[in-house]
Amino acid sequence: MGDVNKEDLEKVMYDYTVNTAELEEENQLLRQTIKQLRSEVERYRVPPLMVCELCEQSSEGWIIKIPNGNKFFTLAAPECTDLVSGDTVLCEQKNLTILKKINADKKFNVEQFTIITKPSITFADIGGLSEQITEIQEVVELPLKKPELFNKLGIQPPKGVLLYGEPGTGKTLLAKAVANASDATFIEVVGSELVQKFIGEGAKQIKEIFQLARERAPAIVFIDEIDALASKRIEIGTSGEREVQRTFMQLLAELDGFKPLGNIKIIAATNRKDILDPAIVRPGRFDRLIHIPKPDINGIKTIFGIHTASMSLDKDVDVAVLAERISKEKFSGASIRNVCTEAGYLAIREDRVTVSQQDFETAITKIIKSQQESEEDAADFLPMFG
Ligand SMILES: Nc1ncnc2c1ncn2[C@@H]1O[C@H](COP(=O)(O)OP(=O)(O)O)[C@@H](O)[C@H]1O
Ligand SMILES: [Mg+2]
Repeated sequence: MGDVNKEDLEKVMYDYTVNTAELEEENQLLRQTIKQLRSEVERYRVPPLMVCELCEQSSEGWIIKIPNGNKFFTLAAPECTDLVSGDTVLCEQKNLTILKKINADKKFNVEQFTIITKPSITFADIGGLSEQITEIQEVVELPLKKPELFNKLGIQPPKGVLLYGEPGTGKTLLAKAVANASDATFIEVVGSELVQKFIGEGAKQIKEIFQLARERAPAIVFIDEIDALASKRIEIGTSGEREVQRTFMQLLAELDGFKPLGNIKIIAATNRKDILDPAIVRPGRFDRLIHIPKPDINGIKTIFGIHTASMSLDKDVDVAVLAERISKEKFSGASIRNVCTEAGYLAIREDRVTVSQQDFETAITKIIKSQQESEEDAADFLPMFG
């Protein structure tokens, strides 16, 4: 024992004390880690929340749409106060209580279903509509390109124009050509698709479309078949009709919401002006209507020229004679194009490299026949609607 001195013992004791402190610290750390891991395990035990869409408020709760498309009525947690229809929310899986609003990526999928282009169609591709071209240039192209002109004069150009006329007369062509001339993004939506393909989403789509237009301005929003959305025949009975109505209301809201001299213009088109809801053509909305007629004899000649420009024709082809015959049949531009295509096929079938007068005559006869047939089909079909 004698050789253990006090100094050594004290050193050992000191070392132990230091060690204890270190160990305690480590212990503390480990405890914390355990706690963290426990809470993480706890979190893994909680079932995941469901991402749902708010459809509409209903008395004290909400109608939500779950990912499979089914709708449910549910309540929102008290802290969710700023909910509005269209929001994306997180819901408890079992009772679907709305727990939290999330900013789901607002980049919606509009870009997947709308056609967004810079069209290559020019006014030169359109025959027989020179007055209509001038008018659309004045009310769409000029305000987009030179808003200052209108500001100086104190004129408010229309926000949008409605093109109406029979199918195949060039409404879509005209909208594309003016987008091209205005160097504007062309956003094309089809009314019937909005209400059929995107059931329950129409209003949201409209919102997104206009959002997109603002981002890509200058832009032209082209709404084809607007009668599918804005028909006065719709009576608010079924939920489908209510849905169309809601989409329509959203469209009106967007129309009312932007300035006539902004860099967005709307062009709508319809073959059925007669069934349009008058709300759509009220001042400040589509208050400029442009009728797109079937071509007259000169128009026919021009359109014929456009569609045969790249074809090889026999020298005997007499456009005046063909135009005369076509004008009696009241053909649309689309029918004239069909005549040209058909005539081309006739030549191909007979291994000829040029198209003859006879090919055109035969093609005209064929198109007349197919039009009569489709008219008869339509007549058979109509009584069903009473
Ligand atoms: N006025 C026209 N001039 C030249 N081609 C035309 C004209 N009208 C129609 N067409 C042809 O018919 C096709 C369909 O026309 P479109 O503009 O879609 O008609 P709408 O939109 O009025 O139903 C066009 O792509 C074009 O080939
Ligand atoms: Mg069209």
